[in-house]
Amino acid sequence: MIQTKTANEPFPVSDNVARMRASSTLKAMMAAEAMRAEGLDVVDLGPGEPDFDTPENIKQAAAEAMRQGKTKYTPVAGTRDLQQAIINFYEQQFGATYERSQVAATSGGKQAIFNAVVTLVNPGDEVLIPKPYWVTFPEIVTFARATPVYIETEETDFVLNAEQVERAITPRTKLVILNSPGNPSGRVIPPKEFRRIMEVLTERGIYVISDECYLRFVYSPCEVFSAASLPAELRQRLCIAGSFSKTYAMTGWRIGYSLAGAEWTRAMLTVQGHSTSNPNSIAQAAATEALTGPQESVATMLEEYGRRRGFLVDALSNIPGLRCIMPEGAFYAFPDVRGCLKGEVKTSEEFSDRLLHQEQTVVTDGAGFGAEGFIRISYATSLERLQEGIRRIRRVAESLA
Ligand SMILES: Cc1ncc(COP(=O)(O)O)c(C=O)c1O
Repeated sequence: MIQTKTANEPFPVSDNVARMRASSTLKAMMAAEAMRAEGLDVVDLGPGEPDFDTPENIKQAAAEAMRQGKTKYTPVAGTRDLQQAIINFYEQQFGATYERSQVAATSGGKQAIFNAVVTLVNPGDEVLIPKPYWVTFPEIVTFARATPVYIETEETDFVLNAEQVERAITPRTKLVILNSPGNPSGRVIPPKEFRRIMEVLTERGIYVISDECYLRFVYSPCEVFSAASLPAELRQRLCIAGSFSKTYAMTGWRIGYSLAGAEWTRAMLTVQGHSTSNPNSIAQAAATEALTGPQESVATMLEEYGRRRGFLVDALSNIPGLRCIMPEGAFYAFPDVRGCLKGEVKTSEEFSDRLLHQEQTVVTDGAGFGAEGFIRISYATSLERLQEGIRRIRRVAESLA
C-alpha cells in the first residue's frame, strides 16, 4: 500500500504566485454576473471591453483563414503578414521604421507587457508605476520579483509629468511603465510632456514600456500619439505594447504585439516560445485584416464613445459630492467620490458596494488601481444604460448627502 498524504492538504502555491492579488476588475464582473442570474436589472458600468461586435471584414478574414487551412503553428513572433502589417502601420502613422526582428505578435497586449517585464527585471530592481495604474502592472512586476514603486499624480489630476518621474527615480530604477491614454483615468500625457519624460529616462539609462492599448481612442482636439513617433535616440530602451482588443473590438481573439529592440525582442520570444508559442493562427489572420482593411469601424466606435463621454462626464459633474474631470481618451470616467463619503460609507469600496446592493449598479472601486476615493465607470455600454446608471448613482449620492 502506498502511503498518501492527507486528501485536504492545502495546495502549496509557489512564492511567486502567492504574492499576486486577484484582479479587482474581475470582482465587479462576478458581482454583476451573480445579480443577473437572480434576474435583477443590473446596470453594469464595470466592463473594460467594447460593447461593439468585431467588424464583419475581420470575422470574414478569420473564416477565410480557416477555409485555407491556416490552422498550423506559425513562427513564435507571428506570421510575416501580421508582422509586416504592424510595421507598415507604424511607418505610415508615425514615421517609425521597425524591422521584423523587432516585432512580436502576442496573445493580447497583456502578454507583451508580461514578456517585456520578465525578460528585463531582477530581484531588487525597482519599477516605476504611475498611479492610478492598470491592475495588472504591479502584479507582473511582483511575479518577476522586482519591486513596484508608485508615482503619485493626483496633484496634476492624474496626468504624469517629467518632474514626477524624476523625483521617483533611485539608483535601483530599472523600468517605467507608461500607459497613455490610461486605464482607469482616461487621461493622456501630452506629446511634449511624453517626450520630456523619455528624455529624463534616456539620460538615466532607464527602460520604458509604453502600453498603447488605447492608442487610437482619443477624442478631439487630442490627437493620436505613439512613443514610436519619438526620435530613435529616445527609443533605444523602449518597448511598445500594443493591442487589437479595444481598437477593433477583438478582446476575445487575444492578439497584441510588442515593438522593441532586436535583443529585447529575442529574449521575449524565448519566454513566449517556451510558454504559449505563437498566438492563435486564425486570430493573426483576422488581426492582419484589421490593420490592412477598411478603418471606418474604428471611427464609428470612437464617435459613439465620444457621445457617451460627453453625456457621462457632464451628468457626473452635476451630481452633488462627485467631481469628474473630462478624460481625453479610452472609455472610462474616473470620478472622485470623496465628497460622498459620509457616515458608514467611508471608502470608495463601500460607496461601490452601496451602489451594487442598493441600486444593482456595478462600478469598479478605484482602490484596486491605487486611487482610493475614486471609482471607474466604463462607458463601453449604451447611452440608455448610462442614463439609467446616472439616475442610480445620483440616488445613492443624494442618500449620503
Ligand atoms: C491598460 C491596459 N493595457 C493592456 C490591456 C491588455 O489588453 P489585451 O491583453 O486584451 O490586449 C488592457 C486590457 O484591459 C488594459 O486596460
